[in-house]
Amino acid sequence: MTRRKTMIILGIESSCDETSAAVVDMADGKRTSLSNIVASQIETHALYGGVVPEIAGRAHIEAVSGITYESLETAGITMSDIDAIGVTNRPGLIGALLVGLSFGKSLAVSRGIPLVPVHHIRGHIAANYLAHAELEPPFLALVVSGGHTSLIEVKDYTTFQTIGRTRDDAMGEAFDKVARVMGIPYPGGAEMDRLASLGDPTAFAFPSAAIPDGSLDFSFSGLKTHVINLLHRYEQKGEPFPKEDIAASFTATVLHSVTKKLSAALASYPYRTLVLAGGVSANSHLRSALQSYAEKNGLRFYVPPRSLCGDNAAMIAAQAYYECLAGHVADASLNAFACGE
Ligand code: KG4
Ligand code: ZN
Repeated sequence: MTRRKTMIILGIESSCDETSAAVVDMADGKRTSLSNIVASQIETHALYGGVVPEIAGRAHIEAVSGITYESLETAGITMSDIDAIGVTNRPGLIGALLVGLSFGKSLAVSRGIPLVPVHHIRGHIAANYLAHAELEPPFLALVVSGGHTSLIEVKDYTTFQTIGRTRDDAMGEAFDKVARVMGIPYPGGAEMDRLASLGDPTAFAFPSAAIPDGSLDFSFSGLKTHVINLLHRYEQKGEPFPKEDIAASFTATVLHSVTKKLSAALASYPYRTLVLAGGVSANSHLRSALQSYAEKNGLRFYVPPRSLCGDNAAMIAAQAYYECLAGHVADASLNAFACGE
């Protein structure tokens, strides 16, 4: 078999509130990140309690060029070393996506190199390829972020089927909204993680996020509203709320909901490998719960290091390599889409 040549890929990510550019070096048996620069806008959006789309778009346009230059410099290369450009074109905030897409498109057209559109969720999954050299599809993936909660069959590097999803709020959104009512600044997920370690996970019984209808779908909005109503009752009575116990009980309910749907998914789709990805995969309780779930059920379990859990362009560039090999290359008419399977 002839070995494919190494491809150096520049990735660009701007779907939400992080502008990122990265360089990866990919080949058969080689997945190396040479740089991964992330400029976060979180401090700006925290003032408003959530991401303000127009501010996000404007911040991306200010950052994208400098971040890209920094990613090349850190990798120790120039544009003439780049073989292809991978850019997130869906799903996300449309004004935010358009910035990275237009920038990547201009670079690809001016250099005469392939432009590879990358689905953001596929990118999150691909973070695991960079971190785990031995990981190969097929496998079952759970992707949990601020905008998504999906159970996905990853049949090969570019063939995906969503078998379960949230019907309302994403898991990260539920963490952030409960945190916000507790007075924790946006995005509160990481602080909820810390508080949960200090509390009693059995202090409160909350409604499950696993929809009991035989589907593989979740609903986080009932759970979120239940917890928020509880917080409001404490406020109305003028009593302090037990933050730690509420965070721990909320987290325990989320974990229980996840393992319930995972068991249902594995009964119908008997994969032996489980992959966790997305911003919420940084959650220490989720990581260890799924690690023990996998051990108990004889599954191999993969999760990225925390540095690759949140939005970043290295994951986009890694997935772009596989999309490029599959011939999924765009022309200069490539567009961005807010939603997208
Ligand atoms: O993937 P991501 O960076 O952006 C989207 O694609 O949405 O995910 C961001 C989400 C936020 O909701 C944030 O609060 C959550 O990930 N998050 C966490 C933790 N770290 C980040 N949620 C729970 N525990 C954490 N440790
Ligand atoms: Zn994301």
